[in-house]
Amino acid sequence: MIIAVDGPTASGKGTIAKALAEHFGLPHLDTGLLYRAVGRQVFLDGGDPDDGGDALAATSFPDSLLDDPHLRDEDTGGLASRVSVHPAVRQALYERQRGFATQEGGAVLDGRDIGTVIAPEAEAKLFITASVEARAQRRFLEMRGRGVKVTLLEIQDDLRRRDERDRNRDVAPLVPAADAMVIDTSALGKEEAISAAIEAVADAL
Ligand code: C5P
Repeated sequence: MIIAVDGPTASGKGTIAKALAEHFGLPHLDTGLLYRAVGRQVFLDGGDPDDGGDALAATSFPDSLLDDPHLRDEDTGGLASRVSVHPAVRQALYERQRGFATQEGGAVLDGRDIGTVIAPEAEAKLFITASVEARAQRRFLEMRGRGVKVTLLEIQDDLRRRDERDRNRDVAPLVPAADAMVIDTSALGKEEAISAAIEAVADAL
């Protein structure tokens, strides 16, 4: 059983994917981390994230980089969004994601193109979304909690920029798969969103 969870930044897809993995007893892969690692590696190499060659070279990042706390930084998210437009980068990360998705017993993957590209045969596809305002507010509280100095407006601007880049890129743009179940979490608390997702997956199986 493959569960694909796609959606924009700060929609709640990561939290939901983790909860689904626990509920259904499946391993979970946050595919955004792979793109973040590539973005971070380009930065460490002093390369240009908009240059396809530099970005491709960075896909051979060491596995230890996946534990780097800087991967969660907003700056790294921005770099990830820039390196992820290059088709060769997406291709280089494909096998790893595909292998995880097709392991025996099944898996939960979250990202932008799981239901459309990585595992189009997934038994359950969720597309988690929320308004920019709701997503910015969540990110704002989370960052403030970590002591990061940032304004709500800065976060909204950054989210809009990333959404636009993710939605309008030529390869694997952020769109719900035709057969995805869309869950809007704007007005839902964490537990409500998780319950809605578990119900949607149970219905799909
Ligand atoms: O989900 P997260 O915010 O960690 O992803 C960071 C960036 O990586 C996204 O903005 C997106 O551009 C890219 N990404 C992608 N495909 C995925 C996962 C992430 O293009 N499957």
